[in-house]
Amino acid sequence: MRAAGSVGGMCGDSRIINEARRPTVSGKDDAVSLPRFFCAILRADMSVPRHFALIPAAGVGSRLGAATPKQYLELAGKPMLLHAIDAFLRTPQVQEVFVVVAPDDPYIDAAIGKGDDPRLRILRCGGDSRRESVLNGLNAICEQTADVDWVLVHDAARPGLTPDLIQSLMSTLQEDPVGGLLALPVVDTLKRDDGNGRACETVPRSGLWSAQTPQMFRYGLLKSALAHADGVTDEAAAIESMGMQPRLVEGAHRNFKVTLPQDIELAEFFLKNYP
Ligand code: CTP
Ligand code: MG
Repeated sequence: MRAAGSVGGMCGDSRIINEARRPTVSGKDDAVSLPRFFCAILRADMSVPRHFALIPAAGVGSRLGAATPKQYLELAGKPMLLHAIDAFLRTPQVQEVFVVVAPDDPYIDAAIGKGDDPRLRILRCGGDSRRESVLNGLNAICEQTADVDWVLVHDAARPGLTPDLIQSLMSTLQEDPVGGLLALPVVDTLKRDDGNGRACETVPRSGLWSAQTPQMFRYGLLKSALAHADGVTDEAAAIESMGMQPRLVEGAHRNFKVTLPQDIELAEFFLKNYP
């Protein structure tokens, strides 16, 4: 159920929900509505950047090995993906929430139900890797965004995100020239194995962090960094490859990524006891 779409191309088969068709500049029923056209002109010289959330949700969850992709598993009463979506929708500064799913995703409609928040948009343009899904999503929203706008990219598989964590990231990075990410300092002693299950080295943990999401960067910078950074597993790595240093903002344990079957119980513990 992966996208066939090319990286960096327009999201031709993306579907934007919750948006009534309006009269268009050309008179045709295309994606450029009159209000949006004039908004784009008015926005051209506006200096106040807006905040958009982009949630890549086009993975299959192979390590978790469930019958459905992990982002659709029910956790504390609703699909995992909905927890992340709701954290952004409960954050007033977030202008719109874009969710990138696979083009042939059969689960998303049922998961979001009637999805009556006009800030929620579904983009059916997931790619073969997380990077491709994010880049395809960024390309698909080019008409709504200016290069200076902030984009907060967040894994669908991190249901423990809260509006407080989002606020902390946004306020810390408000004036930052680069952007940054939630992360946690590594606390364990780290070992390298010799390939045969034996420790051959103790790796100093000083200065090491484990990266979380959201990762928040300017739209224009992020799109160009990802387009030029093959093989990266997060946005920060793409920015680093351009010689910049993303700011590390302290995240939280509850914002861990659900990856293995045993993670489900811990995620439910956080969501039920600390909603
Ligand atoms: N993701 C995506 N498109 C892909 C692969 C991953 O949008 N082609 C998303 C996942 O849906 C998830 C996030 O990227 O929200 C983090 O990826 P990961 O935890 O690795 O999820 P999966 O790739 O689904 O899991 P696995 O690697 O175990 O198959
Ligand atoms: Mg993966």
